[in-house]
Amino acid sequence: MGQLTTNVIVVKTHMSDPYDDLRGSRNFQPSGNDAESMEEFFSRCEDPWRLKDLARHGPRIEIFRAMLQQHGPKFRRLLDIGCAEGFITYHLHDLSEFTLGIDVSPTAIQRAIRDYGRTCSFEVGGISDFRPDEPFDAVVITGVLYYLSDQRQLINENVSLYLASGGLLLISHIKESSGHTGFVELFDPERFQLITSKEFPCDEYDQSLHLFRKR
Ligand SMILES: C[S@@+](CC[C@H](N)C(=O)[O-])C[C@H]1O[C@@H](n2cnc3c(N)ncnc32)[C@H](O)[C@@H]1O
Repeated sequence: MGQLTTNVIVVKTHMSDPYDDLRGSRNFQPSGNDAESMEEFFSRCEDPWRLKDLARHGPRIEIFRAMLQQHGPKFRRLLDIGCAEGFITYHLHDLSEFTLGIDVSPTAIQRAIRDYGRTCSFEVGGISDFRPDEPFDAVVITGVLYYLSDQRQLINENVSLYLASGGLLLISHIKESSGHTGFVELFDPERFQLITSKEFPCDEYDQSLHLFRKR
């Protein structure tokens, strides 16, 4: 009896994700810094910055967790501003009884709810117009401040309002895009006490991180 062989021909098409080769590359960025540009960017494809790639972004998450755990107890309310599709929010949720991610892109927030809505809460909201019912005892802002034009005012007036007195604020950004102090000069020392700073490599960039306590 002859041997039965099966030939499987795999036809690779790019129909399903025409952006696959671009996602996560330096050249693939939103066309502007406003909410509409962010929404348009997320509408093109899922996870356009490849932020959910643990091999690339896991080191950041580990350091954020360690910093928050070292300087705070378990938090009651943690807020992640500019949470994108909720990946970092999700990886911080066990540090807090209630964890909320906000982002200006409705598409990003829909995906965050779809993937992590059982463990975290998500809302469409911008850093300038968010009005929480109660302040938070931890706020995280990572990879977001470059997109804001009135950074100093938003930090010292809006973010300051979102944080309870004594609460922690963690910021982390790509070092080469965040000035020589990693945005630290924007923070009013009468409102925010700098507790610690750190630089570390992550993916293809060096990151700078600062942890503040609200006075
Ligand atoms: C590069 S992603 C960073 C996502 C995530 N925080 C991280 O570190 O992986 C920047 C995010 O900031 C959001 N964003 C930009 N401007 C914002 C604003 N004014 N208020 C809230 N989110 C904003 C964008 O929609 C986008 O999801």
